[in-house]
Amino acid sequence: MKKNKQSNFIAPSILSANFLSLGEEIVAVEKAGADYIHFDVMDNHFVPNLTFGPLICRAVRSIVEVPIDVHLMVSPVDRLIEDFIDAGASIITFHPEASNHIDRSLSIARDNGCKTGLVLNPATPINCLDWVLPKLDIILIMSVNPGFGGQTFIENTFSKIIAVRQKIDEFLNKGGHSIRLEVDGGIKVENIQAVKRAGADTFVIGSGIFNFPDASQNLGYQKIMTDFRKALEF
Ligand code: DX5
Ligand code: ZN
Repeated sequence: MKKNKQSNFIAPSILSANFLSLGEEIVAVEKAGADYIHFDVMDNHFVPNLTFGPLICRAVRSIVEVPIDVHLMVSPVDRLIEDFIDAGASIITFHPEASNHIDRSLSIARDNGCKTGLVLNPATPINCLDWVLPKLDIILIMSVNPGFGGQTFIENTFSKIIAVRQKIDEFLNKGGHSIRLEVDGGIKVENIQAVKRAGADTFVIGSGIFNFPDASQNLGYQKIMTDFRKALEF
């Protein structure tokens, strides 16, 4: 069977950054080798927390080169997809539960030249992917319930990653395109290897990078990023 071979991407989630020096924090993680900047948008409606909107995304866009990976935890989604594309988002993912017309929401992103994908909560079944695989660039599996950084990785996510990886590989074997498999929540140096082994190629890491001891004092994210990279080398 043909395998969907993609390089490993690390996407620091700025939700755990020090907001008093957000710009410096983002520049520092990019310099330390971040592949994406993961941007968590929460609306106090779909999830019980409130974070940042398109204006902040636009400001982030002006200081980084790497793609901005916008994770929408909002409902409804359609208008914000357009607003975030306008604000410089490179990838936009949203939760199927948050859209009344998933295919339409995906098309809004794609038709505007933005990469897009669906996010599966821990209890969301994976069959919602079946009829939209041709429209997905990325699938994001939540390994915590969305809303907060610093939560513990939910162990049964591993079997879900394996099942989604199988779906992606089958799609590729039938002539489909490559789809990234991203995992978000509770990833640390200790478990990232297992997450990759299960089939992930893109790793969202919030507290595991920004709350790493000493890192935020001197913006020294190089060491922790190197530790994650090393753990992914096998
Ligand atoms: C949670 C967010 C995550 C979060 C990850 O709703 O989607 O991106 O920032 O943070 P950690 O890595 O600390 O679990
Ligand atoms: Zn996220």
